[in-house]
Amino acid sequence: MRILGIETSCDETAASVVEDGTKEIAFVLASSKEFHEKTGGVVPEIAARKQLDFIVPVLDEVFAQVPKNSIDAIAVTQGPGLIGSLIVGIEAAKALSLGLSKPVIPVNHLVAHIYANFLSHAAEEITFPAVVLVVSGGHTDLVLMLDHGRMRHLGSTLDDAAGEAFDKTARILGIADYLGGAKLSRAAAECKENILSGTLPRPMIGRDNYDFSFSGLKTAAKRLVEKGEYSVEAIACEFETAAVDVLVSKTIRAASNYNSESILLGGGVAANTPLRKRMEIEAQNLGIDLFLPDIRLCGDNASTVASAAFFNNSPTEFANLNPDPSLTITD
Ligand code: KG4
Ligand code: ZN
Repeated sequence: MRILGIETSCDETAASVVEDGTKEIAFVLASSKEFHEKTGGVVPEIAARKQLDFIVPVLDEVFAQVPKNSIDAIAVTQGPGLIGSLIVGIEAAKALSLGLSKPVIPVNHLVAHIYANFLSHAAEEITFPAVVLVVSGGHTDLVLMLDHGRMRHLGSTLDDAAGEAFDKTARILGIADYLGGAKLSRAAAECKENILSGTLPRPMIGRDNYDFSFSGLKTAAKRLVEKGEYSVEAIACEFETAAVDVLVSKTIRAASNYNSESILLGGGVAANTPLRKRMEIEAQNLGIDLFLPDIRLCGDNASTVASAAFFNNSPTEFANLNPDPSLTITD
């Protein structure tokens, strides 16, 4: 089954074609990132206007690679995301659905991030129950995946998402104005030794729940910067270590408590090298299989949307296909 995926939840405009949920046959991605660099963050109005500029050329490029009439269904991100951006993808999906007489499948953006794993590994190797950490610029969620289509939300951040904390700290450190997570991580890697080890808090690490909080960590990093005593690299290293400590500790606790057979990561922050390495060590210690998405599929893209739609196939009526910016993973 060939599914065309469309993703327009934020500042990426993407379209992919995926066969049977696992085999990518077309991948196109455009980004309005450079416009948001100027303003130091996404301006939703600008993101939506760029979605309008990009959506037709992106779809044209996909259809230059894969004939339109070979598509069996159209999948589109329904939410969470920016309302103006979501509308563009959803209306394009509806138009294609009418034009091609094919069903349209709405996909939860967080679920799409999880399916980067099913494109990066042989799907049958991923066994359930699985604990999934979805960690991005907008979300930090722990999910118990009992099977395809059977997900239980375990916890999430109470304030900033982990990626947001990386981005804001990168800005405070003067590393990047927008999406500084990867750059902060590169600065941290310059440190041979974490001389500030234990200086920053590990928020909620000891709490017996699966929720997170990152705004205090970011504020504590700001105070360290204001002291003016430590290098950018040293603070970046301790910030990253603290964030990774919390993410790994809570994920491993959930995996252990729910007797999970697999641990999966998803979302832009899943590209973080120390997070991947630490999770690998801890999962190995517990004897649980760890699945990491390919780096290029960690961020927002449309292949994951098409894959998620294949494994959770539930076409919808047009009347129900509205954007839902606050969509969450429910039981
Ligand atoms: O999933 P994504 O592309 O968009 C959202 O849905 O939010 O995630 C983007 C987030 C940004 O906060 C970005 O700084 C972060 O992922 N990110 C990283 C790394 N690469 C991207 N954070 C830490 N380390 C990285 N290597
Ligand atoms: Zn995302």
